Amino acid sequence: MDGNGRWAKQRGRPRTFGHAEGVEALRRTVEAAGDLGIEYLTVFGFSTENWRRPAEEINALFDLLRLYVSRDLDKLAREGVRVRIIGERVGLQSDILRIVEEAEAKTRHNTRFNLTIAFNYGGQDEIARAARRIAEEVAGGRLAPQDITVERFGSFLDTCELPMPDLLIRTSGEARLSNFMLWQAAYAEFVFSDVLWPDFDKDALSASIAEFHRRERRFGGHGAE
Ligand code: FPP
Repeated sequence: MDGNGRWAKQRGRPRTFGHAEGVEALRRTVEAAGDLGIEYLTVFGFSTENWRRPAEEINALFDLLRLYVSRDLDKLAREGVRVRIIGERVGLQSDILRIVEEAEAKTRHNTRFNLTIAFNYGGQDEIARAARRIAEEVAGGRLAPQDITVERFGSFLDTCELPMPDLLIRTSGEARLSNFMLWQAAYAEFVFSDVLWPDFDKDALSASIAEFHRRERRFGGHGAE
């Protein structure tokens, strides 16, 4: 959800104002994705590298997660949305952990739409955590090294319940992955949109999906000849 800072700067407002508008864009996008028949949406809300930002901005981002869940959880639960939060939980404040667990528990049986929020998430960190758990399984004699296949490795990732992403949208004109879903993005189609996240809406999502449909996906094989 990139571009909040620049969006705010263009308006002479603090970066946190852009993040707050980013939550409105998130609301719109969840709604729009459901309308467009998408079943899985994962958004990047806070990265393991975002700890390098000033404390004031970090606190504002955590407050926005609190605000979003407290305002929207009931509605999401009613509308059949299953909420998941991926990322490192160790080190998160206890009230944030409670919020995350409540959001997941309350929507556990929902199947209409899957909203995943990556929070304190880094792709490298996720892979390292998975490797550590796999090493523990091997050390405990519960897993044989030869059984560590791509599929088995994937089952140790935060995204073990999610399909591989088809489309990865990066907003605000940036053209890098920034540690998002490194493993999972293996065959995702990338769409780079110039729209700053607070301006993201159904039209921007539809345009990205239209671009996705123009791509020919080969998954390493050859196309129809
Ligand atoms: C990147 O834009 C955005 C973030 C680091 C935070 C995104 C978070 C939200 C939209 C709200 C968080 C809340 C929930 C509910 C997950 P940037 O700040 O890097 O903008 P810039 O590239 O223009 O500086």
